Amino acid sequence: MKRVRAAVFASGSGSNFQAIIDQTDLPCEIAILVCDNPTAPVIQKAERAGIDTFIFDPGNYQSKEEYETQLVQILNQHNIQWIFLAGYMRLVDSTLLNAYEGKIINIHPSLLPDFPGIDAIGQALREGVSVTGVTVHYIDEGIDTGPIIAQKSLKISKKESLEELTKRIQAIEHQLYPEVIKQLIK
Ligand code: GRF
Repeated sequence: MKRVRAAVFASGSGSNFQAIIDQTDLPCEIAILVCDNPTAPVIQKAERAGIDTFIFDPGNYQSKEEYETQLVQILNQHNIQWIFLAGYMRLVDSTLLNAYEGKIINIHPSLLPDFPGIDAIGQALREGVSVTGVTVHYIDEGIDTGPIIAQKSLKISKKESLEELTKRIQAIEHQLYPEVIKQLIK
């Protein structure tokens, strides 16, 4: 049977990308990394793993529609069925959303709808909440909106630093994201 093929979109360090590709029983093949930042460390991770990369600079395009149209072409060429956003620092627009309706998911380091957007962990600490967590959700045009698929919470310890909490949240992310992928693709 032909395996499902998926793309990961990432802009940064790629620890979630690594956690996904490290799974030995993933129900899909991560066939391509899409990255909008030519200097992102995630690119080396993909190269080390022998995964194709498509790296683009949004500044080289006239509009979002233009680069998303090219993205859809590339994803089609690679027979991609699912897209996993993992630290992709860009809003997805209608061109890509329509082409992959119900097939794009994202991970976010908070219990959405709380603390959307950047620095979600810092937002939670500054707010002084005692519980935060991780969310995996389908995406729509909004910032970290879209139907929630799974959440996992953790208690914030007293005097926990941003670094400490980030580390604990990342550990949860690296477990939860592959778990959700395994649930969705069978
Ligand atoms: C993660 O915290 C993820 O939840 C958020 O961006 C971060 C990406 O980290 N969307 P990494 O590049 O996977 O290490």
